[in-house]
Amino acid sequence: MNVIIVKNYDEMSKKAFEIMKAAVTEKKDAVLGLATGSTPIGLYKEMIADHKAGGASYADVKAFNLDEYMGLDYSSDQSYVYFMRENLFDHIDIKLENTNIENGKAADPEAECARYNALLAENTVDLQILGIGSNGHIAFNEPGTSFDSVTHVVDLTENTIKDNSRLFASIDEVPRKAFTMGLSNIMAAKKILVLANGANKAKAVYGMVRGEVTENVPASILQNHADCTLICDEAAASLL
Ligand code: F6R
Repeated sequence: MNVIIVKNYDEMSKKAFEIMKAAVTEKKDAVLGLATGSTPIGLYKEMIADHKAGGASYADVKAFNLDEYMGLDYSSDQSYVYFMRENLFDHIDIKLENTNIENGKAADPEAECARYNALLAENTVDLQILGIGSNGHIAFNEPGTSFDSVTHVVDLTENTIKDNSRLFASIDEVPRKAFTMGLSNIMAAKKILVLANGANKAKAVYGMVRGEVTENVPASILQNHADCTLICDEAAASLL
């Protein structure tokens, strides 16, 4: 894994944007894998500012999001589909029909996972953006998830529910289940860019970069990827 340590969140976001811009400039119809959460918001802001200033176009880009809460859709401002429109898609020229995410309100969750896996099988992600959970999860693949997993429904751990409750009115409102791409879907991307900032990520970052490759630390699978770069701030890198 290629590790780039920067001073702070702002530098992490700018550096990540350089890689994103190169990807969509080299290949106008690039397929992007995108994440939600606090970590990539700075990158998305950079993409929006550049686009508005006449920079990169996303008109031919396709996007696949990692995950979505079960039971939520665009009508909820806590849904990930809402997050993506608010924080990125509504401010660049990507076509909404080219954006993909699991349908949190799908009547048949198993069929929804199969639909998403089929789409991913047809579309190889050129650049996958990832954040990392404080327990080492990537997407919603919690510790113990099989490295062979594909899109599936997960029971969120108490740790993740607690981490994510900051974005909800109360912890009781955090959904207990989610749809997530599996680890083998993520590993199929040609290039992976992981972003991590803050001291609360330091242990997970250590496990991802230097720890044993084990299903107990889902992000450790990234050590096996041929083209994976981590950009992290000094606080997240403090145990490396
Ligand atoms: C989001 C996702 C999660 C987050 C992770 C870190 O789509 O898949 O794995 O990347 O939980 O979240 P933040 O960035 O909020 O610290």
